[in-house]
Amino acid sequence: MESFYIVGGNKLEGEVEIDPAKNSLLPILAGCILVDDEILLENVPKYSDVIAMCKILEHLGGKTKFVSGKYKNEDLLVDCRDIVYSDVPNELACSVRSSIFTLGSILGRKKIAKVSYPGGCDIGLRPIDIHIAGLKQLGCKVVDKNGYIYADGSKRRAEDVMLSFSSVGATENIMMFASVCKGQTRIFNPAREPEIVDLQNFLNKCGAKISGAGSNMIVIDGVPKLHGCCYHAISDRIEAGTFLIAGAMVGKEIVLKNASPKDNQALIAKLLKTTCKIKEENDRIIIKGSPRPQSFGEIETAVYPGFPTDLQAPMCSLASVCDGYSLIIENLFEARLKHIGELLKMGCDIRCKNGVCIVKGRDKIYGADVITTDLRGGACLVLAGLYAEGYTTLNNIELIDRGYFKLEEKLTALGGEIKRIKCEKKVYNCY
Ligand code: UD1
Repeated sequence: MESFYIVGGNKLEGEVEIDPAKNSLLPILAGCILVDDEILLENVPKYSDVIAMCKILEHLGGKTKFVSGKYKNEDLLVDCRDIVYSDVPNELACSVRSSIFTLGSILGRKKIAKVSYPGGCDIGLRPIDIHIAGLKQLGCKVVDKNGYIYADGSKRRAEDVMLSFSSVGATENIMMFASVCKGQTRIFNPAREPEIVDLQNFLNKCGAKISGAGSNMIVIDGVPKLHGCCYHAISDRIEAGTFLIAGAMVGKEIVLKNASPKDNQALIAKLLKTTCKIKEENDRIIIKGSPRPQSFGEIETAVYPGFPTDLQAPMCSLASVCDGYSLIIENLFEARLKHIGELLKMGCDIRCKNGVCIVKGRDKIYGADVITTDLRGGACLVLAGLYAEGYTTLNNIELIDRGYFKLEEKLTALGGEIKRIKCEKKVYNCY
């Protein structure tokens, strides 16, 4: 087990390069299963979730290999020509939520699939009923038994699919399966996140015929087979958002390179209320923090283009040090507020009921011994530690490695004092 040792109080200044998006790379890796050919994914950070997906591909008979390329991170070579198996066992599926994305692609490639219920961050129930309803609509027989989804896609057919909710994962699963179903499938009420558009672009580069991603209807004309390609995933808007929030809390001037201003508009609108200064360029965002940020008012998480649930936790840290009260409402995941208990240990003033939090900003918060509760909750505690008076020990940081690559090195380069250390003692996680 590892921990971050953080000494608070330093102002951050300099440039940081935002990595390709975890939430794009994971469905793209699932999409590789459909492709009977080699794929080169450029500049892939070794997020532990990416490594977990590679293990799933290898279990199925695929090959994955990091190779040097022209970017900061290595490229990832994926070869799914020899996919022979069609099952994802529990021990592999339980380490990563995106294991469920393989259901659509295994079915597309092998016509049958046996995939365990997925794991991932403990932020709520996270059912998969919408994924299953969509696949059934496309002619699959699906049986849910002993923690596994058994699916038969041999009688697949293109159809109209209406999602009861714009689920990101369900949209991606259905898109992947439909891309190799003969005929035209239309997905109504799909998720519109930038990562959905990225998956469309990746699949189209492999020869799929998909249009409309990012709008309220996706049209997929099935093709018999996909071919290999070289692809570069979009920039991670949640990592960019995390650095922007850091900028509003402890930033002198931070320049985010390879960031997408257009994908972060909901956040930028709120941050501007704190009186920080933000300059948007083509693929850069520059933020200058103000000496005492003002409250941003309220945020309410929603599907894209609403305020991202993944940035709710970091916003709790910002709210805790703003001048005034802030209201934070988590609408998407019922158990995504566990970081609040840790923030209280740092002297934050937060009241919380039924997903609604009232935060009274304080000028000072204090370092403490705290625990990473989930990926983004971990990022929230890192930011609080960088602001706090004194030092913070943040335990269980393996959860942060799921979706931030070398976070401590990036923060250190900006002037933050944060070190990765071995955790000597037993960590009691009461959740
Ligand atoms: C993805 C992201 C995650 C982000 C979330 C919302 C990945 C790997 N993860 O997760 O970082 O926080 O989108 O932006 O891309 N739901 C159902 N039934 C279903 C599917 C979902 O009820 O079959 C509910 C969920 O419980 C949740 C809501 O819909 O309340 C949103 O979930 P969804 O959009 O599917 O998120 P994920 O794909 O799991």
